[in-house]
Amino acid sequence: MSKRIDISDLNVYYGDFLAVEGVHMSIEPRSVTALIGPSGCGKSTFLRTLNRMHEVIPGARVTGKAVMDGQDLYAPDIDPVEVRRQVGMVFQRPNPFPTMSIADNVLAGVKLNNRRISKAAADELVERSLTGANLWNEVKDRLEKPGSSLSGGQQQRLCIARAIAVQPQVLLMDEPCSALDPISTLAIEELVHELKNDYTIVIVTHNMQQAARVSDRTGFFNIEGTGKPGRLIEMDDTTTMFSSPAQQATEDYISGRFG
Ligand SMILES: Nc1ncnc2c1ncn2[C@@H]1O[C@H](COP(=O)(O)OP(=O)(O)OP(=O)(O)O)[C@@H](O)[C@H]1O
Ligand SMILES: [Mg+2]
Repeated sequence: MSKRIDISDLNVYYGDFLAVEGVHMSIEPRSVTALIGPSGCGKSTFLRTLNRMHEVIPGARVTGKAVMDGQDLYAPDIDPVEVRRQVGMVFQRPNPFPTMSIADNVLAGVKLNNRRISKAAADELVERSLTGANLWNEVKDRLEKPGSSLSGGQQQRLCIARAIAVQPQVLLMDEPCSALDPISTLAIEELVHELKNDYTIVIVTHNMQQAARVSDRTGFFNIEGTGKPGRLIEMDDTTTMFSSPAQQATEDYISGRFG
């Protein structure tokens, strides 16, 4: 299920603006990779290139390579829709379809992929995905209630259930806890820890403790100034990054001396 991604010499543009420059990175399967760095350094931009969401923005483009288990995600014969099925994404703000039922929210991605499934298979998939997202026990008696009837933390887990229902290989999470309270945050962190048994996970976070708690490897992005491109400054095992980073800029950022 889980796959590795090797990124080389990746540049990301919005029109003429080079937002992220020269990224080389290996993302290991069955592990959690955290991406940290100051606002505007291109973490979200970089993350979106890993499932070709970047190119839905008019004028946006990518050069370089992102190779998933030997397959270049940007090769001309690759269907971006299929890439997005294999590389799922969870966003900063929980974004369930508010009027759709909890069960239908879980199935939304599957239906989008034009997969027809029987009622029994759908029920099974809903239960499996919600169990995987650690939400089943809280919602099993109200699957027909709207997605908006859940708390913020529950909604975020519902979005994770929706993402894993399509059986992706990789899960990208862009600050998935930033709108959540500490208890819900902990629930998501525990879930991320469990999900790495099955998925390759890349998580963007502003929370240093969270990066230290949930990730195996951490990449630090930085930017020299406004209008300059973001770059990957350093990437290493999370314990090394937080105890003895090689770069002064990393040290300054993680110890809060940035800026
Ligand atoms: N849709 C867009 N069109 C043009 N420029 C964009 C777009 N989205 C982001 N940018 C620019 O690209 C750069 C990187 O932005 P990005 O959102 O990737 O940063 P980030 O590291 O995720 O920041 P934050 O921590 O605040 O979320 C910024 O200069 C931003 O203004
Ligand atoms: Mg961002």
